[in-house]
Amino acid sequence: MDRELALEIVRVTEMAALNCARWMGRGQKNEADAAATNAMREMFDTVQMDGTVVIGEGEMDEAPMLYIGERVGSGTDEAVDVAVDPLEGTNILAKGLWNAMSVVAVAPKGTLLHAPDMYMDKIAVGPKAKGKIHLDASVQENLQAVAKATDKDISDVVAVILDRPRHEHIIEQVRAAGARIKLISDGDVAAAVNTAFEDTGVDILFGSGGAPEGVLAAAALKCLGGELQGRLLPENDEQRERCRAMGLEDINKVLTMDDLVKGDDAIFAATGVTDGELLRGVRFIGKSRARTHSLVMRAKTGTIRFIEATHDLSRKPLPKAGG
Ligand code: FBP
Repeated sequence: MDRELALEIVRVTEMAALNCARWMGRGQKNEADAAATNAMREMFDTVQMDGTVVIGEGEMDEAPMLYIGERVGSGTDEAVDVAVDPLEGTNILAKGLWNAMSVVAVAPKGTLLHAPDMYMDKIAVGPKAKGKIHLDASVQENLQAVAKATDKDISDVVAVILDRPRHEHIIEQVRAAGARIKLISDGDVAAAVNTAFEDTGVDILFGSGGAPEGVLAAAALKCLGGELQGRLLPENDEQRERCRAMGLEDINKVLTMDDLVKGDDAIFAATGVTDGELLRGVRFIGKSRARTHSLVMRAKTGTIRFIEATHDLSRKPLPKAGG
């Protein structure tokens, strides 16, 4: 993929983040999501690519835009798969908590897993522990592997886990192993990405979250040299059928990095909407300026860029539904 595309994609996440940030703390997650989605959709029209949404806001009959199968971009240049989450962490933004982000991953056509909207069991680590963990190993074994790879005592390893009743058994096992825990209310894409950055203070992600979010996080970790493994968790016959329709014969298969994002080329961009460990949220400066903080990366070259941008909203107005 053309390297210019990375900078085009970050403009898309910036605009989505700007357009939903004014909904922070207003308790209206659907309105916030719509604002992000509108802006992202509009901005994609300016990007030179022949994109197809493979992970989006839902099926064609459920979502008005950025639905699975929708074509985005100018329709010229290389054909690419596009995975979007215009507002990752709708509840986070509604409450003004940490780590709401606008996220896009782009990869050559046919390389992103078309993950259906269901849960996925996940384990994710940064580059040091890549190749040392396994979804089917015990929590203790994985923590020991991370401790060894990061040259820490197990008591200093931090596991990040979504705070859900379904994760109580994992929390108990982490505590029994003597490691530390950071429970989060939402946002496991940011949590997975954070495992690759020492300053964020987390080493390993455990637990189930959305499968689409799993593919987005895998794209980010591919750029960062980290690792995510996943297993789809269909809850009924319809979901099992969707796994098969996706070409997954063995539904229980542990999905590796290459199953989630094939090959070595992917672009990942995220812009902070609310503050997080890695990205600052959108700041409005006076009436007509706003500042965004983004991360954009390319797996092919391993370049990791943080971009701080100041936007003049009087010259570049936000799309409708801007709050
Ligand atoms: P939304 O942005 O769709 O609200 O997703 C937030 C999120 O926390 C994801 O990061 C995570 O993968 C998923 O929800 C977890 O699902 P659940 O809230 O059902 O446990």
